[in-house]
Amino acid sequence: MTDALAGKQLILGVTGSIAAYKAVYLLRELTRRRAEVAVCLTEHAHQFVGPLTFRTLSGRPVLTDLFDPQSDDAVEHVAIAERAHAIVVAPATANVIAKAAHGLADDFLSTLLLAARAPVLFVPAMDGAMWDHPAVQANVRTLRARGATVLEPDAGALASGLAGKGRLPEIEHIVEALVRLLSPVKDLAGERVLITAGPTREAIDPVRYISNRSSGKMGYALATAAFRRGAEVVLVSGPTAISPPPGAVFVPVQSAEEMREAVLQHLGTATIVIKAAAVADYRPKAPAPEKIKSRQERLVLELTPNPDILKQVAALRGSAFIVGFAAETRDVAERAVEKLHEKGIDLLVANDISRQDIGFDADENEVLLVDRWGGTEHLSRRPKSAIADAILDRVRVLRAQAQAPAPR
Ligand code: CTP
Repeated sequence: MTDALAGKQLILGVTGSIAAYKAVYLLRELTRRRAEVAVCLTEHAHQFVGPLTFRTLSGRPVLTDLFDPQSDDAVEHVAIAERAHAIVVAPATANVIAKAAHGLADDFLSTLLLAARAPVLFVPAMDGAMWDHPAVQANVRTLRARGATVLEPDAGALASGLAGKGRLPEIEHIVEALVRLLSPVKDLAGERVLITAGPTREAIDPVRYISNRSSGKMGYALATAAFRRGAEVVLVSGPTAISPPPGAVFVPVQSAEEMREAVLQHLGTATIVIKAAAVADYRPKAPAPEKIKSRQERLVLELTPNPDILKQVAALRGSAFIVGFAAETRDVAERAVEKLHEKGIDLLVANDISRQDIGFDADENEVLLVDRWGGTEHLSRRPKSAIADAILDRVRVLRAQAQAPAPR
């Protein structure tokens, strides 16, 4: 699959926030993915990072208010704005958001935002109290209503020394949002996809738990792909080391019981349910209320089965299309078919977890798809992002077949 960013003409607007240095990393990632990026620095951004860094990394002159109006660059600047496939403003201060919302054009970037017709992605970074201010929120609503994409800032430690919502989102999230903006394929628009991912943790005592090696990468890749393709996504996730994908409603859970509750709560509105989570089959029957002391002669843990969430979902599904995963160590194809029927679902994605190079915690996967209409499809080894797209493609085909009127 070709990279959606390759060959795209982008404008990266950088404004005066301490997060301006992160725009350098964003630029590096965009150029690594072969986008052609023209950087536009506001006067305040110059005070945080010099234009030479951006010029060197982008291989182009930086668009700035400090340009010489006599030079040919001035004409070139206009041409770049007309050719742009998308404009990213990262970091976007409260000031540039306000200017764009109200149509002010008092510097190069704000003028360009008025003049260009390309889609715009604002990536806010500011103090938490500023982000929360009703004036900023009203401006954000105005921009969104007009069709711009405004990402939510991340929560965490802020430059002010305080903690709150205001950090520039992770670079990979900005890039993914941009890919979605540029992606012509919105074949899941109107779908509401409920995805589970990661392991569950079953408490033994307040500090210990039983879990498994699931990384969550496959479920997160599915959430990312479904969102990019236009779906509304709810991601119910056990604890993982990866940050939530952009755009998805993220519901963090710990135990299988918590996952079950969250899934049932969101099931009613879902049109597609994908259960990629590795749910612990058993949990300690009576978790100790206090930390279990060491040096006991013998310690017996009694386990009790967890509810089978997938089976419950399949029983309550309504018209939703249900996809399950299977982790198998042998006889993958036979067991996949058995599991598909036993769980009463539409499509099963079977992993061979005996292999070290794919599956659990790996970046790539190779899977077998078996469906309730007797079809099978082998997806050869590829990145989990590509596996995710292939699974979603299959779901679309099967749903279309299932919904088609029977031949007379
Ligand atoms: N699953 C679930 N709830 C459980 C166990 C599994 O919803 N308590 C779901 C998983 O999310 C996955 C599918 O069922 O989509 C199959 O999981 P897997 O671990 O392969 O199968 P099990 O049902 O646990 O069967 P077994 O471990 O005996 O192979």
